[in-house]
Amino acid sequence: AKSNTVAKAAGKLYFGSATDNPELTDTAYVSILSDSGFFGQITPGNSMKWDATEPSRGTFTFTNGDTIANLAKKNGQLLRGHNCVWYNQLPSWVSSGNFDNATLSSILQTHCSTVVGHYKGQIYSWDVVNEPFNDDGTLRSFVFSNTIGESYIDIALNAARAADPNAKLYINDYNIEGPGAKSTSMQNLVKSLKARGTPLDGIGLQGHFIVGELPSNLQENLEAFTALGVEVAYTELDIRMTLPSTAALLAQQEKDYQTVVTACNNVEKCVGVTIWYSWVPSTFSGQGAACPWDQNLVEKPAYSGIIAGFQ
Ligand code: G3I
Repeated sequence: AKSNTVAKAAGKLYFGSATDNPELTDTAYVSILSDSGFFGQITPGNSMKWDATEPSRGTFTFTNGDTIANLAKKNGQLLRGHNCVWYNQLPSWVSSGNFDNATLSSILQTHCSTVVGHYKGQIYSWDVVNEPFNDDGTLRSFVFSNTIGESYIDIALNAARAADPNAKLYINDYNIEGPGAKSTSMQNLVKSLKARGTPLDGIGLQGHFIVGELPSNLQENLEAFTALGVEVAYTELDIRMTLPSTAALLAQQEKDYQTVVTACNNVEKCVGVTIWYSWVPSTFSGQGAACPWDQNLVEKPAYSGIIAGFQ
């Protein structure tokens, strides 16, 4: 069975993967990535971020993002935009520009409008705002929140809605997959945005996990969001382990992938699951094997866990 085929048979919109431009020279990888039986959705890992799309003020570059968008189109896959505003991969002209509130608001408005507008009609969903919270649930401090306050989020969402009215607009974060302070803050933000009429369609739960250490109550946590009138998705799922991988770790990883996919499968308004693993080895020394395929592109037990989760 193929992962996107079973996801769709279960009533989900997609099973997807992040990808990145440098990886597209690997033809064996690209043939799996492009198989819409395996993947019905792709997300660019870096090429639509601020540093890639507006490296200097008012100068927009879409070449690499367009490559991913065209690949999705060619493969008949949905495309997730990632992202309009994030504290990371923000060029220094923005982060160190010492702009006042009005100027920074206009910079943000222009950036989101231009990037979302460029891909108008090609995108299923946009991670408009990425990682707005600290792990304790307080608003993350960076140039936009520091200068504009929480309403930088409203500016970005309003600009995105105007630029592509058919794209689903998401806020995306990690460590909100189980109940806790950060998940509660995100739910409170959803309520506040809805109360003030700011457009928002979904919450992305990234899902960067460690084998054997999943949060409990994944499904209840998803339902706490969908009860507020938004859809949800696991947007960046990977489940890493301390290397070397052993049969026991691979078996636990299979179980963990199945648990996460089952949680999405059980929640009607959880629209899909996207995997995102390539950052793991370079970020966590001694850890890896987070992907459901091995280095030779052979399906691991984790892949069976995904299939079972959709059944
Ligand atoms: O573009 C430069 C290149 O010019 C330079 O030669 C090279 C040398 O290291 O670095 C390149 O930049 C790298 C960039 O990816 C593009 O490849 C950065 O060093 C590297 O830090 C960056 O990592 C990305 C990371 O976000 C940055 O925070 C990962 O690829 C990307 O997968 C990861 O994705 C994030 C999501 O956007 C948000 N959620 C968490 C997730 C994992 O960290």
